[in-house]
Amino acid sequence: MAIERIVDTGAHDEDDEERLIEVTLRPQRFDEYIGQERLKKNLKLAIDAAKKRGESIDHVLLYGPPGLGKTTMATVIANEMGTNIRVTAGPAIERAGDLASILTNLQDGDILFIDEIHRLSRTVEEVLYSAMEDFKLDIVIGKGPAARSVRLDLPRFTVIGATTRTGALAAPLRDRFGHIYRLEFYTPSEIMAIITRAAGILGVKILPESAESLSTRARLTPRIANRLLKRVRDYADVNGDGVIDTTTTTKALELLEIDELGLDPADRNLLLRMIDAYGDRPVGLTTISALTGDEATTIEDFYEPYLLQLGFLERTPRGRRATHKAHKHLGKKLAEPQEPHVSERDNQSKLI
Ligand code: ADE
Repeated sequence: MAIERIVDTGAHDEDDEERLIEVTLRPQRFDEYIGQERLKKNLKLAIDAAKKRGESIDHVLLYGPPGLGKTTMATVIANEMGTNIRVTAGPAIERAGDLASILTNLQDGDILFIDEIHRLSRTVEEVLYSAMEDFKLDIVIGKGPAARSVRLDLPRFTVIGATTRTGALAAPLRDRFGHIYRLEFYTPSEIMAIITRAAGILGVKILPESAESLSTRARLTPRIANRLLKRVRDYADVNGDGVIDTTTTTKALELLEIDELGLDPADRNLLLRMIDAYGDRPVGLTTISALTGDEATTIEDFYEPYLLQLGFLERTPRGRRATHKAHKHLGKKLAEPQEPHVSERDNQSKLI
């Protein structure tokens, strides 16, 4: 993404210090992990059952918008199982050989976490799902007439796959996962608890009303909540006595141009452009992409989930629509309903 956004839910363009802080704040066990109650309940059961039988757990697929804790949950599962975790990502496994070397270096019970699993190539995907199915790896050695296929035994490993879009996963791969869970947006009170916990770990003093104010602007996403906390702490350190109170919070958020619902200038720009050009009529994704200059996948993965959650965007069969609620939030009047097109009017009279 060209412009750095404080509300960016991706973990990709952070500097080393930011990443280190994010890792420090990550809960390590279920009892520290706030929110995702249904998911935790199901996973705890699966882990207890696997441990009782002395087995590894079935492969797990976690999906949902970025920033909601898929990687964190994978680490928690490994800690609860008492196993090693090897972390990689779809785009990093370019060839079947890369996957073969990862798989043959695993040990019994290890967890292989594959972030952005929907970005694996088809060839790698095929090798992976046969390995997940029967813990065997078929590799071809040599070339031409001398080539022969060898079948290697693999350890009993568990894949934890993370994706923002299950739809992009080939059905045979999706079918190899025994557990498929969607990570949900957090509630404002869960986000407030996450902010309070993070402030405790970072040794930052924050007043409860400020934690509440940040929690309504964090887009129901822990990664953004922690990032906002750090930015407001910077402001409080430079312009005050380091305590995060109402004044520092308000001023810092004003500076960041984050409004009371957590929208930043890029979100508002997207909605305004849609409204100015189309009112509350549906707009295709490629048109929105042309209006804002963002890639369609950026709109789908980063902007849309929270705008849909707020009820500001609606998906229709003919595209996305900016709702009345979005108009109201941006102080825009709804355009007068348009006169039906002549042919539509004709159709209507025919129907009557
Ligand atoms: N930090 C980031 N995500 C968290 C979570 N779900 N619970 C506690 N702290 C967190």
